[in-house]
Amino acid sequence: MALLEVDHLSVTYTPRDQPANRAVHDVSFRIADGEFVGLLGESGCGKSTLGNAVLRLLSPPAHITGGRVTFDGVDLTD
Ligand SMILES: Nc1ncnc2c1ncn2[C@@H]1O[C@H](COP(=O)(O)OP(=O)(O)O)[C@@H](O)[C@H]1O
Ligand SMILES: [Mg+2]
Repeated sequence: MALLEVDHLSVTYTPRDQPANRAVHDVSFRIADGEFVGLLGESGCGKSTLGNAVLRLLSPPAHITGGRVTFDGVDLTD
């Protein structure tokens, strides 16, 4: 079983003065115990937002709008 499971995760920023920005859209991956995974992408593609969502470090105006993060069997998105 994977140690970290990210299933169909989506994150949207909803600033008051700007249009909503769906920064992370339907991302899924699994990481096993002892496995290392790199995340590559151009600036602004959502790497930090994804990492913050997995670590429960998001704050408004960012919101998890879909999906699930499970670490060692515990649902972090509950
Ligand atoms: N506090 C915020 N408010 C609104 N939009 C944001 C905020 N932080 C990041 N974004 C937007 O979310 C998207 C992804 O940003 P980010 O996760 O920082 O990308 P990366 O880390 O890959 O450079 C970008 O379009 C960025 O403008
Ligand atoms: Mg970043």
